Amino acid sequence: MPSLEPAEITAGRLHLRPWRPYDVDAVHEACQDPEIPRWTQVPTPYERRHAEDFVTRQAPAAWADGTGALFAVVDATTEGLLASVALLDITDQGDADLGYWCAAPARGQGVMSQAVTTVTRWGFGALGLARIGWRAQVGNTASLRVAEKCGFTLEGTLRQALVVGDGRRVDCWVGSRLPDDPPPPGNLHR
Ligand SMILES: CC(C)(COP(=O)(O)OP(=O)(O)OC[C@H]1O[C@@H](n2cnc3c(N)ncnc32)[C@H](O)[C@@H]1OP(=O)(O)O)[C@@H](O)C(=O)NCCC(=O)NCCS
Repeated sequence: MPSLEPAEITAGRLHLRPWRPYDVDAVHEACQDPEIPRWTQVPTPYERRHAEDFVTRQAPAAWADGTGALFAVVDATTEGLLASVALLDITDQGDADLGYWCAAPARGQGVMSQAVTTVTRWGFGALGLARIGWRAQVGNTASLRVAEKCGFTLEGTLRQALVVGDGRRVDCWVGSRLPDDPPPPGNLHR
């Protein structure tokens, strides 16, 4: 895979940019919220070394080898960390998977929907992706709502197909968005 040119995108009050070393403490703090390892592959207990490895090794390595575009979502004015959004497992054939979490204090304000809409549009436009996949543990209705608001279609359930942060294997919902899918009615971030 060719490497990806690190990108920065401003969308309203959000700024999406590659992770920087000084994000380690903010990532460590955000991932203390048990809701994040409960629903994602973030490890638990989440130690500072996990944040350091994510920010300084995993994220830059994925950009460099072209397999992932991992963005910090920060407040465009204050630079405070709000969320994480990523296109993962990017392939030469134009597939990618979406991953995200929102820091607890920033939830319920539309941050995640706007960040997902932005990175999805960038993935189809700048990277020329053909399909973006989404998976969430069955019962993660907040994540499902974000995905549906951003134009993803729920396709079904896979049994025991996801291993979450505490090592549990769980059933997951799967869905996707294709480049020409229409935005859902009422989506303000189309
Ligand atoms: C899922 C998550 C990212 C949603 O973040 P958020 O900031 O609440 O998202 P938004 O503010 O953009 O809200 C999007 C929609 O979800 C709805 N929503 C939020 N929490 C919800 C909940 N617990 N149940 C049902 N709907 C919920 C919101 O009401 C909103 O819908 P609306 O505009 O129709 O009112 C956040 O809860 C989170 O980080 N969870 C832990 C990590 C995680 O689950 N990541 C995804 C793994 S697949």
